[in-house]
Amino acid sequence: MEIIRTIEEMKKYISTIKLKNEQIGFVPTMGYFHKGHLSLMKEAKNQCDVVITSIFVNPLQFGPNEDFETYPRDENRDIQLAKETGVQAVFIPSVDELYPRDPIISLQLIERTDVLCGRTRPGHFNGVLTVLTKLFHIIEPDRVYFGLKDAQQAAVVEALISDMNFPIQLVGVETEREEDGLAKSSRNVYLSGDERKEAVWLYKALERGRKLLVDGEKNPAIIVKEVKNALTKNTNGTIDYVEMYNYPDLKPVERIDQQVILAIAVHFTKARLIDNMIFDESGAIIRGPFS
Ligand code: PAF
Repeated sequence: MEIIRTIEEMKKYISTIKLKNEQIGFVPTMGYFHKGHLSLMKEAKNQCDVVITSIFVNPLQFGPNEDFETYPRDENRDIQLAKETGVQAVFIPSVDELYPRDPIISLQLIERTDVLCGRTRPGHFNGVLTVLTKLFHIIEPDRVYFGLKDAQQAAVVEALISDMNFPIQLVGVETEREEDGLAKSSRNVYLSGDERKEAVWLYKALERGRKLLVDGEKNPAIIVKEVKNALTKNTNGTIDYVEMYNYPDLKPVERIDQQVILAIAVHFTKARLIDNMIFDESGAIIRGPFS
């Protein structure tokens, strides 16, 4: 596996792949790999000739009070895991390599931003847009892989690719779940024993909401209320949000007559958990809406 740290070296590597007419699958990450990252790489491996992943903790997407400095990093372990998963190249640029000066151009997301997790992270997605634009230009992938656990980010990437005419296919990869349905997350280890039992209610509450739709309820407000009730009754967590929008536009809907996302965030003592389901107007789950 190639470990590449400079843009110049990466461009040389990419030109050899393009000469062979091979398809590039790209998994951008901030490192500290968990199973979710590895499943994106595996999906890319199934669909593409060459899999490239990047490890870059992007300062532009962290707010002033967020954890850029303390964000977990373990490069050696990540390299090992990428190798074992069959990745061909890892791109690990330094901050100076990717941002040799403070950017003069700022990309701004004007829709899909003031909802869900974006509401409490002003400017976050602008930083994501900037770094992905640079990475897409450097790596020139045919397909990019994003987990649908962070469905808002996937919606933002869909907008970037479409608005900026990147010749790239976005593949949304389904959330990995524990046997009882809890979405896998590195934050689950911060749950106490009781909280771990309660946390499955994020999944169960989403399912309850979906079932209402399957049974004919088309009013999102009623579904959201029922999901909130299920969470309040069955967990001691504090609800951050339960929201429903059309997807990927993330606009409120008065009646469910199109593809929608039902999304939840709940604070437990030491962990804030998120989960979501994307389904069509009949309640059928959409698995990877962009693939
Ligand atoms: O999801 C992440 O890890 C980051 O937001 C991404 C897409 C790698 C951009 O820095």
